[in-house]
Amino acid sequence: MSSFPAREQLRQRVEYTYKFNAKTGRHGWLRLTPAYSLKIVEELVAGCANARRILDPFCGTGTTALCAAYHDHEGVTSDINPFLIWLAQVKTARYSPASIEGARHACAKALNLVANRFVEPVSAPPIFNIERWWSAEALEFLRLLRAAIEHVTQPETEARDLLLVAFCRTLIEQSNAAFNHQSMSFKGNEQLSLLLPADRGAVFMSDVRFVLNGASENPVGSTSVVLSDSRKLKKTLSGPFDLVITSPPYANRMSYIRELRPYMYWLGFLENGRDAGELDWMAIGGTWGIATSRLADWERAEEHFNSPHLTEAVQAIAHADNKNGVLLAKYVAKYFDDMWAHFCELPELLASGAKLHYIVGNSTFYGTLVSTERLYAEMLSELGFSQVECRPIRKRNSKKELIEFDVVAQWK
Ligand SMILES: C[S@@+](CC[C@H](N)C(=O)[O-])C[C@H]1O[C@@H](n2cnc3c(N)ncnc32)[C@H](O)[C@@H]1O
Repeated sequence: MSSFPAREQLRQRVEYTYKFNAKTGRHGWLRLTPAYSLKIVEELVAGCANARRILDPFCGTGTTALCAAYHDHEGVTSDINPFLIWLAQVKTARYSPASIEGARHACAKALNLVANRFVEPVSAPPIFNIERWWSAEALEFLRLLRAAIEHVTQPETEARDLLLVAFCRTLIEQSNAAFNHQSMSFKGNEQLSLLLPADRGAVFMSDVRFVLNGASENPVGSTSVVLSDSRKLKKTLSGPFDLVITSPPYANRMSYIRELRPYMYWLGFLENGRDAGELDWMAIGGTWGIATSRLADWERAEEHFNSPHLTEAVQAIAHADNKNGVLLAKYVAKYFDDMWAHFCELPELLASGAKLHYIVGNSTFYGTLVSTERLYAEMLSELGFSQVECRPIRKRNSKKELIEFDVVAQWK
């Protein structure tokens, strides 16, 4: 028998938010949990059969909580991004056969409204350069479909939530976004999809089928998904937790808000670029839009975690032969100050003997290696954690020094 009885169910739900690109071997959207990371999370959860309450303070798309619940634990997770909180809530919820049937029925009604144009399309979301994202036909279809979903479902119902997850899949499938690089780009015009309106409806129907298929396999354990800043966790969460499994943002300037903006605008979680920048500024490791100019004015607080490795790295980056050296040195310093603030929250939330797993990669800036794993280990030791270890998991790409680690520790 498989040692992961819940694997298939888990995979189906995790994949709500994935579109796998067979050619490039990459996940096309909402790629917050790559396949190898799901495997690691599963193995860690399965290896801790005694854990009752499992915490993930950087929820993303909710994989850890979902995995915990499929293995009959309580999964508690939090994130700073309200869209991801909504998505993780929808992904981890339990659905009755009646609500699945209700969503299927609502999908048919919505597509009928779209096909006959019996509904007024919503306004196009205020995404900068929206014509780069969608052809005029695709945009028209999505505006009609978004309106139809509202028309056939009540606010805050399971049917609406499930259809909106499927809508997220459809909107990105019908976009010109390409995900062949670490971050997203646009396909050339020659690759614009030339789907007929009926085909566009069929894409949505197939996405709804996919989502409902996953939703019909309910996890046995429970989950709780909370909007919270990981630097102020104690305000919103109460312990004790006996296992923490998480993948925090990396110090690599990737902006989750930038990556998630199409979903966030279409679903009303963002209304303008300024809000997007504000949210990125609140996120650890964010440097997009206004977050970049805020960083230029940011100064380190008097009190911060002191480490010779960090001081050396920050100085080397600041003095690099590059006009952005000073800004990026601040970026790195702020990233670790924020992570230190996060780690300081943990002790009061943990049971004695609780285990920690932080899956994180190191980074380089202008030739300076920033050993994130080593700095996490130093911080955890300073806080009194024991058995602190950095276990290499995999090389991140052809650059041999870029490696992903599982930083492991135990509370007292
Ligand atoms: C690497 S992703 C997590 C991926 C996740 N393991 C998954 O399965 O999708 C890091 C997450 O940290 C969140 N984050 C960034 N800063 C945060 C903060 N201050 N508090 C809470 N979450 C934060 C981001 O919104 C993002 O979802």
